[in-house]
Amino acid sequence: MILQEEMTVLSNVKIAPRVFRMVLQGEMVLDMNLPDQFLHIRVPSPDKVLRRPISISEYDRKAKTCVIIYRVEGPGLADVSQMISGQKLDVMGPLGNGFNLNMPFPKQKALIIGGGIGTPPLVQLARDLVAMGVAVSVLLGFAQKSAVILESEFAAVASELKIVTDDGSYGRDGNVGVLMDEIDVMAFDAVYACGAAGMLRAVASRTVNHPNAFISMEARMACGMGACYACVVHVGGDETGQQALKVCDQGPIFRASEVVI
Ligand code: FES
Repeated sequence: MILQEEMTVLSNVKIAPRVFRMVLQGEMVLDMNLPDQFLHIRVPSPDKVLRRPISISEYDRKAKTCVIIYRVEGPGLADVSQMISGQKLDVMGPLGNGFNLNMPFPKQKALIIGGGIGTPPLVQLARDLVAMGVAVSVLLGFAQKSAVILESEFAAVASELKIVTDDGSYGRDGNVGVLMDEIDVMAFDAVYACGAAGMLRAVASRTVNHPNAFISMEARMACGMGACYACVVHVGGDETGQQALKVCDQGPIFRASEVVI
């Protein structure tokens, strides 16, 4: 069920340059049940009418709280970054299909790959998998040391955590493709990735034969509910270019081989 609610801001803290962590409280949290669903938030400014899609990083149904982590890219989210505890944020959600965990995990192992601001929704995913008894290996890539976020959150649950930075200022030097080349992806029941398009392409090219490789796609959105076709991605192998999938309600999670990245 999609709800609209004035959620209460409990905190809104800068955790890296231009990156903020906001805790929200409201009834909507009771409807959150899969990792990497998203919220469509209305910027608190009368001249900004379009909502912004932000992934849910984690949620706690008991406390009716959820966490969103967002990077300020323009004036809209700059306004959100100024919000303080006690203010209300107009939110639609939870939207999107989320990572489906309803599949067998015979090897009890999953691989999670995140890049930059794509890492937040993978926190809930990692926790949910570990709660199911599945061991998670986590590979994270960031531009540089100052952009590294959520290391302790992943370290708390991961069996293995490796970090790379583009400039080598933290962890290994390079990108997650380098780390993937050092492991056998087929040893994992499932591979999950969220990050920039270049990173997703690197994951897709290394999981071609994997039966359960999933990626979370980003797209510009308007309605957020499947009505406007602002967010389409094209279907892999469709030579007509006519087949399209809507990221907002048919995604954001797709099989890595399913869409053109
Ligand atoms: Fe309108 Fe996806 S944003 S269809």
